[in-house]
Amino acid sequence: KKVVLAYSGGLDTSVIAKWLQTEYNCEVVTFTADLGQGEEVEPARAKAEALGIKEIYIDDLREEFARDFVFPMFRANTIYEGEYLLGTSIARPLISKRLIEIANETGADAIAHGATGKGNDQVRFELGAYALKPGVKVIAPWREWDLNSREKLMAYCDEHNIQVEKKKGKKSPYSMDANLLHISYEGDILEDPWNEPESDMWLWSVSPEEAPNDPTYLTISFKNGDPVAIDGVEKSPATIMEELNKTAGANGIGRVDIVENRYVGMKARGCYETPAGTVLLKAHRAIESITLDREAAHLKDSLMPKYAELIYNGYWWSPERKMLQAAIDETQSVVNGDVKLKLYKGNVIVVGRKSDDSLFDEAIATFEDDAGAYDQKDAEGFIKLNALRLRTAAKKGRDLL
Ligand code: ARG
Ligand code: SIN
Repeated sequence: KKVVLAYSGGLDTSVIAKWLQTEYNCEVVTFTADLGQGEEVEPARAKAEALGIKEIYIDDLREEFARDFVFPMFRANTIYEGEYLLGTSIARPLISKRLIEIANETGADAIAHGATGKGNDQVRFELGAYALKPGVKVIAPWREWDLNSREKLMAYCDEHNIQVEKKKGKKSPYSMDANLLHISYEGDILEDPWNEPESDMWLWSVSPEEAPNDPTYLTISFKNGDPVAIDGVEKSPATIMEELNKTAGANGIGRVDIVENRYVGMKARGCYETPAGTVLLKAHRAIESITLDREAAHLKDSLMPKYAELIYNGYWWSPERKMLQAAIDETQSVVNGDVKLKLYKGNVIVVGRKSDDSLFDEAIATFEDDAGAYDQKDAEGFIKLNALRLRTAAKKGRDLL
């Protein structure tokens, strides 16, 4: 029996690696991904070797993550429950895909992950895995064992000779997840939704109070709905994310503090920093504002909450996501051009937009003489016919007040 484990190299997944070997008596293959979390992934190799792992996969998935997951999602201006930019949610389907690819390559029949039985991540990993390999076996140790505290995990490490490095400095008390799109914080004092996060919790952005007094200007260019250049310089998807995270974070942009509805039914408090995502969403809406037809744009907007929900709930690899993606992508061939932005103390302010595919017609929109481009008399009949049903109802005595 062989199992592929999503392995971070941290305490929890190191215990899992050993536990799978002892409890399940199976051979463990580890998979560690660089998704832009900002930590070296290579150290996971030595840690896995120390656990007796023979097959170790370490992949740099940053470009694939930005290009094939984050950017397609952003074409829809996706936000869950009005606030959450889905930083963790959108990374899970890629991890599932790689777990299954590696299972197929190594002849493993199972996958394992370190998500708890209370959260969304277990659902996302497993729905993805089942969609891509229907017969796969899933092992979720957190739902099985009783090592439900740090103390018990540490005791398990002592007992089984697992080296866990004592991190220098004080360890963050939060449950965190990071990648190119965001860093998340849950648990500890955040479990009381009335508690304001301590200022030293936030790792990627300064507070708006500490942001520079001078604004930062930048121009983002879009092609087929995806960002392709910053200030006229073309960059890869991951580089765009990395650069914007720095610039926007330095201007206090991208913090949110929310209570969200998890798929399993509970409400959970989470804090997130999504600097690049916050800028890109604003910029993408701005370029769409001049390039998309009104009805296409509104229909697309009406689909967005559903699309966000299915990503949040773990249905990236599903017929309904493919269907919505096709509709969204169909609109994006005209979403080309430049957006000029001002970043200032936590704000992303659009100050200009231009496109060769612009539908904005100055001749029509002007308050000055339009030289016959638009006949104002046409508006009279337009309004009267739209009022027809209202007048009919009112004449009939319907109360429209
Ligand atoms: N609540 C967020 C979500 O469901 C973040 C989850 C963070 N996951 C983690 N393993 N720390 O997408
Ligand atoms: C977890 O429970 O493992 C993290 C939080 C989540 O998945 O929602």
